[in-house]
Amino acid sequence: MPTSEQPERGLANLDLLTTPAGQAVLAELADTEMAAAAELRVAEALRRRYPAELVTAALAQHELRRRARAKFSLAGEMWFTRAGLEQASSEAVARHRARRYAGAARVVDLCCGIGGDLVALAGAATAALAVDRDPLHLRMAALNAAVHGLEPETLPADVRDAPLQPADAVFVDPARRSGGRRLRAGDSEPPLDWCTALAERVAGVAVKAAPGLDRGSVPPGWEVEFVAEGRDLKEAVLWSPALRGAPTRATLLPAGDQLLANPGGPVDCRAPGEYLLDPNPAVTRAGLVEDLARRLGAWKIDPMIAFLSADIPLRTPFGRTLRVLEHGPWREKDLAARLRAHGIGALDIRRRGLAGDVDVLRRKLRTTGRTPATLVMTRVDDRPWALICVED
Ligand SMILES: C[S@@+](CC[C@H](N)C(=O)[O-])C[C@H]1O[C@@H](n2cnc3c(N)ncnc32)[C@H](O)[C@@H]1O
Repeated sequence: MPTSEQPERGLANLDLLTTPAGQAVLAELADTEMAAAAELRVAEALRRRYPAELVTAALAQHELRRRARAKFSLAGEMWFTRAGLEQASSEAVARHRARRYAGAARVVDLCCGIGGDLVALAGAATAALAVDRDPLHLRMAALNAAVHGLEPETLPADVRDAPLQPADAVFVDPARRSGGRRLRAGDSEPPLDWCTALAERVAGVAVKAAPGLDRGSVPPGWEVEFVAEGRDLKEAVLWSPALRGAPTRATLLPAGDQLLANPGGPVDCRAPGEYLLDPNPAVTRAGLVEDLARRLGAWKIDPMIAFLSADIPLRTPFGRTLRVLEHGPWREKDLAARLRAHGIGALDIRRRGLAGDVDVLRRKLRTTGRTPATLVMTRVDDRPWALICVED
């Protein structure tokens, strides 16, 4: 399937694929879990029975559906462009966000793409309008909503021209690529300040942004939520005052654990104890490491470093706990012997606050023992430090 940069060809292919013949080819492909070698044979066999352009389009769509399984439970029935799939919110993230739209009479999904968010938003609100200037994406969004039994209105338009009334809430996921290229970090189309200014027209607004966004671009009174799936930091969501719940939040999916600020006195800073906690990137990015420390009764090992420590095993969804076998000042020449003494084999090297090439170091250390471990290269009291740790 061509990318959304070639919408005419993409629409023509989509027309072909939605015919009974197109559906039959896609169904045959779906039944065949193909190894790369088998794929050629299946494609040849299909080309003997169907027009070549239909088979080519079906193979491309089949491949996108296969990749989309990582994001969507009904991927096998949905429609994608490569760019649309890459930029789409996963079902888990979209559903999480859409909860704040529950009960809205009418929600507008601006820049709906292939409809990753639309499906969740249209399911949460009574009515939904989806807007995108890319006709191929908009058509796919409607088809993908239909796969989920939903029938939102659609409007092919520049979002700048889209009527927002009557709507009680808006969601906007601006593009971070244009003309097939990634935009510069921090740039989007439409730009972030246009997106946040929507709150002057509709009270309830959420904007999906890159997790690396400049915190200075969050308007006063808005919430910024950092969302991770597992330890994979996915996005920042900016919530207007009408939808906001707290100033800052770290959310971990799929379970939906949420960490909010936990104000209090300063957190102690001292040498590592028996356990080290590596906070989830959503916690670190949200600036909630000290809040987590207060909640767990942990301390920091350096004023500037986002590792926490304690003498008891810290059980929390908000970080990964490691048991410290030993720690001390960073002395690279002693490391191989130290690791050997602990019988360390597979080695994960985690570097924070210390320069160095992790791959070169791993090659140099050549650990051959049986115990998997994590070597932490960091700073303690601003001094280069090494911690040899194992999973707790
Ligand atoms: C990041 S994708 C949206 C992904 C979507 N939320 C999802 O989960 O599938 C951005 C979309 O914005 C659209 N877009 C970018 N600028 C636009 C504009 N000015 N007006 C309308 N649509 C626009 C692009 O065509 C693209 O489909």
